[in-house]
Amino acid sequence: MAVATLGAAGQAAAQNNAPIKVGFMLPATGTFANLGAMIENGFKMHVDEQGGKLAGREVQYFKVDDESDPAKATDNVNKLIKRDQVDVLVGTVHSGVALAMAKVARETGTLLIVPNAGADVITGAMCAKNIFRTSFSNWQPAFAMGKVAAERGHKRAMTITWNYAAGNESVKGFTEGFEKGGGKVSDNLTLPFPNVEYQALLTQIASQKPDAVYAFFAGGGAVKFVKDYVAAGLNKTIPLYGPGFLTDGTLEAQGEAAQGMLTTLHYADNLNTPRDNAFRLAFAKAFKTNADVYAVQGYDAAQLLATGLKAVNGDISKRDQLQEAMRKAKIDSPRGTFSLSAAQNPVQDIYLRQVNGKNNEVKGVAIKSLADPARGCKM
Ligand code: PHB
Repeated sequence: MAVATLGAAGQAAAQNNAPIKVGFMLPATGTFANLGAMIENGFKMHVDEQGGKLAGREVQYFKVDDESDPAKATDNVNKLIKRDQVDVLVGTVHSGVALAMAKVARETGTLLIVPNAGADVITGAMCAKNIFRTSFSNWQPAFAMGKVAAERGHKRAMTITWNYAAGNESVKGFTEGFEKGGGKVSDNLTLPFPNVEYQALLTQIASQKPDAVYAFFAGGGAVKFVKDYVAAGLNKTIPLYGPGFLTDGTLEAQGEAAQGMLTTLHYADNLNTPRDNAFRLAFAKAFKTNADVYAVQGYDAAQLLATGLKAVNGDISKRDQLQEAMRKAKIDSPRGTFSLSAAQNPVQDIYLRQVNGKNNEVKGVAIKSLADPARGCKM
């Protein structure tokens, strides 16, 4: 066998020349399919900008379609870890699936970068030195929207979402911000993920007439919800708010229905910084579509990995050093520079945005440098 003749130093060198194996566990089908594609494209774009290599090492991709199905999540993540023997897991969109990934990452020590799913406990009670997130916690944009809704003078709100980790945590974050500002959430309506039969719930909103509605939906489900809300005529009297997922990557399909909507998120379409303009131009050229928050989160996952790899000269076996460098990284993100909290979740500005045409235009900063409380995180 060739390696037998190499000796320890030679073996290390051979290892260092082997490609870094990146395992994408993302949705390729279902209501979040487009979100998965944007994350993957964003990640690859950063690697391509580095000449296809990170810290001198080629990058090899492995993929599974997680179908946003928590029941299949453990099997799927094990395909990447055991079958493909990836060096790093990148995933996913759906909080329930991501929770299973984080559990396996904790058990196996596999390096995990979460490029979307907001499940609070991933950088809360489940936090670990090998688990990083380049997106948000569900609490972050939700809490900011609650604060904004209260400041806008709304007193009584209803919430509506899919009944799963992300929806429930988003509603909880909103409620915390809104009630802190003097508002009251009177009812939480839910339907199972990924159902889009909203009519019965919209009828309940119409009959209860709250001052405002807060909704967490994303992807295909968000497109239909915003359209159904307007078709039911509710937007005329009851303003609809949400975290920016409600209108991000969806405006093409939502068209007229989304116009004027206010949302909060860690990204917006016209930040008009040199960094973001360059990113958006390159992304549009490469993928013939406009970048959105998911593309940014994928891009930043690659930037974070690159930062770690550079610190160890590409030797991913130096895990402590790599993770330490990742933890301390300052990411030059299209959203604005961010650093990671002790729980390894972004500390970032949450923008207030308003839909204008096909853009979520920035109106201001709802909360500056917002850190997730990371409840229960001990590292
Ligand atoms: C989640 O499940 O955490 C999730 C999914 C889609 C989003 C945001 C959060 O756009």
